[in-house]
Formats: sequence, C-alpha cells, structure tokens
Amino acid sequence: INDSNGLPKVILTEPGGSSAEVLLYGGQVVSWKNDRREELLFMSTKAILRPPKAIRGGIPICFPQFGNFGSLEQHGFARNRLWAIDTSPSPLSPTNSMTTLDLILKSTEEDSKTWPHCFELRLRVSLGPGKLTLIPRVRNTDSKPFSFTFALHNYLSVSDISEVRVEGLETLDYFDNLQQKERFTEQADAITFDGEVDRVYLSTPTKIAIIDHEKKRTFELRKEGLPDAVVWNSWDKKAKALPDFGDEDYKYMLCADSAAIENPIVLKPCEEWRGRQELSTVSSSYFSGQ
Ligand code: BG6
Repeated sequence: INDSNGLPKVILTEPGGSSAEVLLYGGQVVSWKNDRREELLFMSTKAILRPPKAIRGGIPICFPQFGNFGSLEQHGFARNRLWAIDTSPSPLSPTNSMTTLDLILKSTEEDSKTWPHCFELRLRVSLGPGKLTLIPRVRNTDSKPFSFTFALHNYLSVSDISEVRVEGLETLDYFDNLQQKERFTEQADAITFDGEVDRVYLSTPTKIAIIDHEKKRTFELRKEGLPDAVVWNSWDKKAKALPDFGDEDYKYMLCADSAAIENPIVLKPCEEWRGRQELSTVSSSYFSGQ
C-alpha cells in the first residue's frame, strides 16, 4: 500500500498482535508496535517523509558508509534510494513463526559515479511476538573487491532520555565523534545522558540493554556480524539546528545502532557478508534479575 505521502509501504503483523511498517524508500522500518499498540521506535515530529531526504526515525540503513567515516555523503546513499521487494531471496535459515519481508537494493550506474562497485544489498525484516529481527546482507557482484562500513541506525522511543541507562558498553573503547573521533575508554558503569552524546563503541558484547526507567521497559539489542555500537543523542542545541528534528524530540529518543565501522567489511567478488540484529523488549524488573 502507499502511505499518505505516496511512498510504498509494507505492513507486517503477527498473531501475537505486534506490527511493523516498512517503507521501500530507504528499506526503512518506520514503525514497530507491541501487542498493546505502543510505538517502540522514535519518529521525529518534523520528519520529512519525502525523497530525496532521509527519514529521521525508525531504522535507517547506513551503507556503504557510516556517518562521515569516509568521503561519501553522510551515512551513505542506501537510506535515500527506493528499494524493491526481493521476490526470490537466496536461502536463509527459516525464521520460524515470524512474519517476514525481503527487500533488495542493487547498485545503479548513477551510484557507481560516487561509489564505483556492483553490489546487492538485501534486508530481511522478521516480526515475531515481542521481537523484530533484521538481517542485512551485502553481495559483491563486481569483478574486484570492495569494502564498506555499515549501521542499522535504530531510533528507539524512550519516555525521558535523562532517565535512560545503557548497559553492556562499560570498559569498552570508543571513538568520540564530538572530539574529532579521538579514542577513549568508557569509565562509567552504565551510560547515562545529560548532554549530547555521539560515540562509536568498539567490539562490543553481542547483547546491549537500553533501560527506560519511567516506562519500565528495557530494549534488548542482540547482534551478530556487527561488532560496533553507536550511541547518539543530539541533545537540545543540535536538535534545534536540524531542520527535520522537533526542538523537544531529543528527550524521547536514543539511537543505539548495530554497526561495523572500525574494521570495514571487505568482500571479494561473489562473496556475501551477513549481519543480524534482534530487538526485543522485556520488563526492567525481569532484566535486572538476569
Ligand atoms: C549518528 C551520528 O549516527 O547520526 C551523528 O553519529 C549524526 O554524528 C546522526 O549527527 C544523525 O545523522 P543524520 O545524517 O541522519 O542527521
């Protein structure tokens, strides 16, 4: 179906009562609701849902470059291209009892002017009870190797950023984007927020918890093939400077991305890379007992 702006959209539902919405523009999940119809992903109140701008919210795909870690446009071009439904996806292990959508973005002559490589980027979106799984894959369909960086830029909805705690990144090294990508080591027991944060945590554990005290909800982020994790909140000044971000929106979002940034992924001709991210929610009391 088309959304109100005429963008083709696929709605996924599952018997447990949760749902997700995916735009072919950007191959972007723009909504994920639990069985109580509560929205779990953040969407900016000033989001521009019109090409050629990227949409600020949901889960943008950053490819073939994360951020400004390279000479391409910020976060690469995949987030503002029209993807297609992949009608014959190459085999992947079955995602039992999940509702699944396969999308594909292929290289074009236009894009090869800035990034001269032939590729197929696939995304499988699977929805199950309380769980949203994303499986990105990149295939080198070129005759020479290429490398890329990648991120699933998860805009999570939180009730109050000042009350949020991120666990699983303590003691890790990170690049601080606010300090010319200088490398630091995390000293805090958990990450909390009282100002702008823009960091790339390196070689993280496979499980990260984003604990939202007020809503007593914990997001669990599990990832494979995506060793790094980005944590970003614009805070007030940067929010005001971004035209597609409401002035107060920063209070209700946290970007916690699964990413491969420090060590770019290298693919020889015919090789395929695969990542995986599972987002789920559990009650905070359950999580603290683990
Ligand atoms: C984050 C980056 O992932 O995305 C930030 O680390 C950036 O530096 C933010 O500001 C938003 O990027 P954009 O291009 O969507 O405004």
